[in-house]
Amino acid sequence: MTQGPTAPVPTRERLRADLCAVADLPYDGEAVDQLAHALQCGTLAVRAGARPAVVAAALLHDIGRSPGVSAQLPDAPHERAGAAYCTRLLGHEVGWLVGAHVLAKRALVTLDPGYAALLSPVSVRSLEQQGGPAASAELDRFLRHPLAREAMDVRRWDDEAKVPGAPTMALDELLDVAIAA
Ligand SMILES: [Fe+2]
Repeated sequence: MTQGPTAPVPTRERLRADLCAVADLPYDGEAVDQLAHALQCGTLAVRAGARPAVVAAALLHDIGRSPGVSAQLPDAPHERAGAAYCTRLLGHEVGWLVGAHVLAKRALVTLDPGYAALLSPVSVRSLEQQGGPAASAELDRFLRHPLAREAMDVRRWDDEAKVPGAPTMALDELLDVAIAA
């Protein structure tokens, strides 16, 4: 007997499964695991009053590290794999913001002398692999994008969301906001 096509997984369940797949996974050498980092980042976005697409990007900015997501673009860096996934499931705004979170870090290092001093040692090390401070042409191009300001907001929450044991909203509460994006 042949099997029919597999029913598509609803977006909410897909996001939940791919986020839960990073629970307990180390986040490079940071002090929190990847799920705690995602929940902290999403919670910071909600507390700042961000709109749903930005909360979704904060929650999902590293989803490209989740095994089922990275397997879809195995040769791409995690921000590109995450951008493709989020664009498909939640639309272009969320996808762009997720894809921009590394460039936003490089832009902030160039724009704000105090920002680099706040980066964790792990993030300082990865900065060089990511291309270092943004050069003026790519910085100009980035800043002209209408979502650049929100991408830098996501990036600052990303950098803050590394506190062991920090209280967060529940995953389902954050998914409620994200799927409204
Ligand atoms: Fe992150």
